[in-house]
Amino acid sequence: MSHLDALRDNLITLDLRDKNWSPALAAAPGPAEVDVPLAEVSTPVFTLDLDLVAGNLTAMQRWVDDHGASLAPHGKTTMCPALWQWQLAQGSWAITVANEPQLRVARDAGIGRVVVANEYLSPVGLRWLAGELDADPDFEVTTWVDSVAGVEQMTGLLEAAGARRQLPVCVEIGHPHARAGVREHDDALTIARAVVDSPRLLLRGVAGYEGSVPGDSPQTRVDAVKVFLAAMADRFTAIAPLVETDDAILTAGGSAHFDLVAEILGPVAERTPNGRLLLRSGAYIVHDDGMYAGLTPAATRTGPELQAAAHVWARVVSAPEPHLILLDAGKRDLPYDAGLPTIQQVLTAGGLAPAPAATIVNTNDQHAYVELSEPGSLKVGDVVRLGLSHPCTMFDKWRSVLLVEGAEPRIRGAVATYF
Ligand SMILES: Cc1ncc(COP(=O)(O)O)c(C=O)c1O
Repeated sequence: MSHLDALRDNLITLDLRDKNWSPALAAAPGPAEVDVPLAEVSTPVFTLDLDLVAGNLTAMQRWVDDHGASLAPHGKTTMCPALWQWQLAQGSWAITVANEPQLRVARDAGIGRVVVANEYLSPVGLRWLAGELDADPDFEVTTWVDSVAGVEQMTGLLEAAGARRQLPVCVEIGHPHARAGVREHDDALTIARAVVDSPRLLLRGVAGYEGSVPGDSPQTRVDAVKVFLAAMADRFTAIAPLVETDDAILTAGGSAHFDLVAEILGPVAERTPNGRLLLRSGAYIVHDDGMYAGLTPAATRTGPELQAAAHVWARVVSAPEPHLILLDAGKRDLPYDAGLPTIQQVLTAGGLAPAPAATIVNTNDQHAYVELSEPGSLKVGDVVRLGLSHPCTMFDKWRSVLLVEGAEPRIRGAVATYF
């Protein structure tokens, strides 16, 4: 069976302005009829292996189910509604977004349940949201708040907008030197009570992001994350009796520590009436060959086995020195904030071959600098597959993603991203 079926309704036709465009793709009778060998498209291109994505979706959802949790994948990783729909079809409970523009993409895509993992205070945005919620009783949005000032502003803005439905909010818990989120236990309770007193808001639970907790080494970071999660558990225990919605949400968990989240917060949610532990991993769907390969729970503790599904294919366009070659992909095409890409394979007439020892040492806007161990081991015209690090900065370079299948990759379609 082709996993393309999961995306069939969302396939797009590329036009000349899209970096992934090639004549071979344009020649297909329709977006659902594409079947083009990778060698027949231009470079650079960004591809997603459908079988590997399907494997990641299944492995993660099974793990989440086994741990009695729910999953609201962070949609900002891909900003690809076609993939969000696939995640929901595989059992995700909601889609998480980071802000109002992303919420609008989710709304446009017909996503029924969205978590806005942020303080949401835009007057224009709240007016728009109030209108959407009042117009559609099936549209559900939960957002976060970390101050009484925030509660007051949201209340005033929703009142001014004439909002009829109350907006569910979670109190965001923070950690010293981490990102947003109230630091002190008593302040968290004060905010929760202010939400309860608000005629426009509904208290739904407690939220936090352990991924922003700093640490000098992997071990000190894990220790700090555990301290943070224990604090979240305390805050939730105190706040849960005040919750005004049908379920009491306790939400944390990016892609690096969701096992610790389940271990520490799972029992707390379980013993709370109508408690729901909500994980928000975003990177798991495509995983990577860099940062998350080392951070995923399975790498050092236990967790689902994930595989890197996203790659960029680039061409050697220059070999100006014996040990230096240049690729036709650079910062505009490749993530570079958490390690540079690696050269994994060479696309030859006979198929894919292992790459010779070669290291990407730098990138400019449109070029990657590669040091060769053996002069001449990659030549002008060779096409290489690049392994990438950090899913959150892969997709934003591309308005579309090419979907590939098979060991000898064939392009089967494309889906759109909206950054
Ligand atoms: C609030 C929040 N939740 C969840 C995530 C997802 O984490 P990850 O990118 O590790 O999957 C992020 C990522 O930045 C985040 O900011």
